[in-house]
Amino acid sequence: MKVLVTGGCGYIGSHTVCELLYANHEVVILDDFSNSKKDVLQKIETLTGQKPRFYEGKVQDKALLKEIFESQKIEAVIHFAGYKAVGESVEKPLMYYENNLESTLHLLEIMQEFSCKNFVFSSSATVYGSPKSLPIKEDFPLSTTNPYGTTKLMIEQILKDLSKSDPTWNITILRYFNPIGNEKTGLLGENPQGIPNNLMPYIVRVANGILPCLSVFGDDYGTPDGTGVRDYIHVVDLAKGHVKALEHFSGLRIYNLGTGHGYSVLDLVKTFEKVNGVKVPYKIVERRKGDIAACYADPTKAQQELGWTAEETLEDMCRDSYQYIIQEAKREKSLK
Ligand SMILES: NC(=O)c1ccc[n+]([C@@H]2O[C@H](COP(=O)([O-])OP(=O)(O)OC[C@H]3O[C@@H](n4cnc5c(N)ncnc54)[C@H](O)[C@@H]3O)[C@@H](O)[C@H]2O)c1
Repeated sequence: MKVLVTGGCGYIGSHTVCELLYANHEVVILDDFSNSKKDVLQKIETLTGQKPRFYEGKVQDKALLKEIFESQKIEAVIHFAGYKAVGESVEKPLMYYENNLESTLHLLEIMQEFSCKNFVFSSSATVYGSPKSLPIKEDFPLSTTNPYGTTKLMIEQILKDLSKSDPTWNITILRYFNPIGNEKTGLLGENPQGIPNNLMPYIVRVANGILPCLSVFGDDYGTPDGTGVRDYIHVVDLAKGHVKALEHFSGLRIYNLGTGHGYSVLDLVKTFEKVNGVKVPYKIVERRKGDIAACYADPTKAQQELGWTAEETLEDMCRDSYQYIIQEAKREKSLK
């Protein structure tokens, strides 16, 4: 299939592009580099031996979208492009609504115009708000606590309405749990600018001496060790889930992509220390506003309908994440 991947230079997008190429799909990437670097394109080529057609620009740019659809005969779209930092979305809600909603609306309009009606959307476990029970199933009630989450929920609603109005659309909504790790060579990975928002990029920086100490937000939750519990999923497993979604389009579908296992912050820290033979100094600080105690998926639906199961262990995720930061530090040093 010929697939347009928006945000294909980002963390999950770049891994998915590689998996699509390995599975013999043809890929076209659209990215504005607002949260990624140009060298990702070269890295994708090094890993896969293929050079996907690339367009630099914003998904909101309808003229550019038209140009892509006119010249590329796109059969399906995987839509990763969007801003994703929860805290920033609270400070700059308009920026988040503009970037995440306008891009999606324009993309869907152009897809409809060109009768390309196969769409995979990056949603998030954040749409479950604070779940009443665990593990989380796809039919649980939805709610959000921040503008980022609200953009995901609003787009899900837009997609449900679109599917209702025109059932010839194939729309697969994937709700990701907590992606970490990276492909095994350490070439691609997650390298946020400044102080990371997410746990694993923070841990690797503490382990590597870039940051002094990890702050663990609260140890008084109702979890086995008191720290927050999440469903960490290896990004390569997540990427493979997108390939499965493309190969199983059938009307409107919604799937959790998680492992079904919950690990606490301290589980992650201890596993990371053990597999990498390093220390991750941490201190317990106040709970962070808006954080929930525990969140993990019931991934049964994706197993049964997509034939997809996460295979990588927490040990793999910790090992791969550390390899990436070591390799990236070497690459940056060699450029100086
Ligand atoms: N990483 C996570 O923990 C997580 C969890 C759940 C859902 N998601 C969703 O998955 C998607 C991908 O996440 P990621 O972690 O790879 O993020 P990322 O920031 O690494 O990748 C997003 C990519 O999209 C590009 N981009 C952003 N806005 C754009 C626009 N308007 N036009 C063109 N390009 C644009 C960025 O430059 C970047 O390369 C996002 O929609 C995110 O909300 C991520």
